[in-house]
Amino acid sequence: MGATLEEHLVATRKGRYDSYLAFLRIPSISALPQHAEDCRRAAQWLADALTEAGLEHAEVAETGGRPVVYADWLHAPDAPTVLVYGHYDVQPVDPLELWTSPPFEPIIVGDRLLARGAADDKGHVHAHVMAAEALLTTRGALPVNVKYVFEGEEESGSENLDRWLAANAKRLAADVVIISDTGFFEGNRPAITIGLRGLMYAQIDVVGTPVDVHSGGYGGVVENPVNALAQIIAALKGPDGRIRIPGFYDNVVALTEAERAAIAALPFDEEAFRQRLGVPALVGEVGYSVLERKGARPTLDVNGIWGGFMGEGSKTIIPAHAHAKVSCRLVTAQDPARIFEAFRAYVEEIAPPGVTTTVRQLGGGRPSLTPQDHPATQAAARALEATFGQAPVYIREGGSIPVCASFDSILGLPVVLLGFSQPDEHAHAPNEWIDLNNYETGIRMFARMWDELAVLPR
Ligand code: BES
Ligand code: ZN
Repeated sequence: MGATLEEHLVATRKGRYDSYLAFLRIPSISALPQHAEDCRRAAQWLADALTEAGLEHAEVAETGGRPVVYADWLHAPDAPTVLVYGHYDVQPVDPLELWTSPPFEPIIVGDRLLARGAADDKGHVHAHVMAAEALLTTRGALPVNVKYVFEGEEESGSENLDRWLAANAKRLAADVVIISDTGFFEGNRPAITIGLRGLMYAQIDVVGTPVDVHSGGYGGVVENPVNALAQIIAALKGPDGRIRIPGFYDNVVALTEAERAAIAALPFDEEAFRQRLGVPALVGEVGYSVLERKGARPTLDVNGIWGGFMGEGSKTIIPAHAHAKVSCRLVTAQDPARIFEAFRAYVEEIAPPGVTTTVRQLGGGRPSLTPQDHPATQAAARALEATFGQAPVYIREGGSIPVCASFDSILGLPVVLLGFSQPDEHAHAPNEWIDLNNYETGIRMFARMWDELAVLPR
């Protein structure tokens, strides 16, 4: 008799880590043009890994930007077809000096693997490939049909993905989508995400004099762009945490009493959460709990601001210009394009005279809610409980995965958000890590998930 799945996974652990680490060594930062070639290398590496795992039709597919990696295995005629989504691109690594080890030289410290992308999202992508490899090696078949779509632009706005999905709609036909780019709840508690926020990302540019001028000679007679920008930003949100843009809340679907009760029932220690973040207090919109504010209410935040003299010491100028990146996390049924228009109109209205203020959109994505009672979601819950030993909680996450809404609107498919990273994994920050126990159990969980889906009535 051949090895069981578990025996196989134990026997192949070393090679699996070599492979995972090799994937992490490729600096596939999608936002930076100088890493475009690295993104292609990562895509090719992944296509090769899929083929080596026994999957078929692996392809690095052009999108006009960073390529999509596609592969499939379609030999389970009576079983459902699952579309698996993840992303092989990663976030930039600055500030580099805060990393305790280089971001693209992965190292294992105790139970943790440290590297950019270890959790978000190469760990999930790699676990999917390894789950398929283990099933194909030990059983010679998968219990379901699987189509893999691994994107390379998720961290920079997925600009080309919707077009690629629409153009490939026929070959992407499936019964359900599994997106593996979310994680567990506080305390490493298994979770299924049922809500993601959307995003509207914009830049404000404020211009005064053509060049900096002496603040003694001209202070008091020309508007200072940095002051003007500060004034604009201060007017966007009230002390009650409410966003003041007219019409901003128009399409927000309010939480029902039942939804609020479900959120309130989550095992959440607010004080431990505050301490983990190292802040003196948690703040936000009045009338909503922390979990409601971070998962189910919209926000407005400045992501970056610059202008004027930023060197050592002092320099007496009225700066010529000032800039800010501002983004809003959105909830159902806010539309990023409409929110941008409302934002632009309001900023133009409140911009003080004496400077020229322009607003442009840099990106966006729609919010999404996924069905908790869908049979595939319940299959995922059984797979989580069987492997991680604990029934999952259902949570709304504050982050965004714009393609989640696209799978519904473009392909008409239901989505299950199924991942296993941890909330304090330092995603997008220095020293990103993944718990290797989660990664290992995650592989078994994905394999189990295919078995759970295979027996569902179609
Ligand atoms: N994995 C995250 C999304 C996420 C974050 C899910 C937190 C659950 C909790 C994803 O890789 C991501 O960072 N998305 C971007 C999308 C944006 C660039 C459109 C985000 O949320 O900022
Ligand atoms: Zn991310």
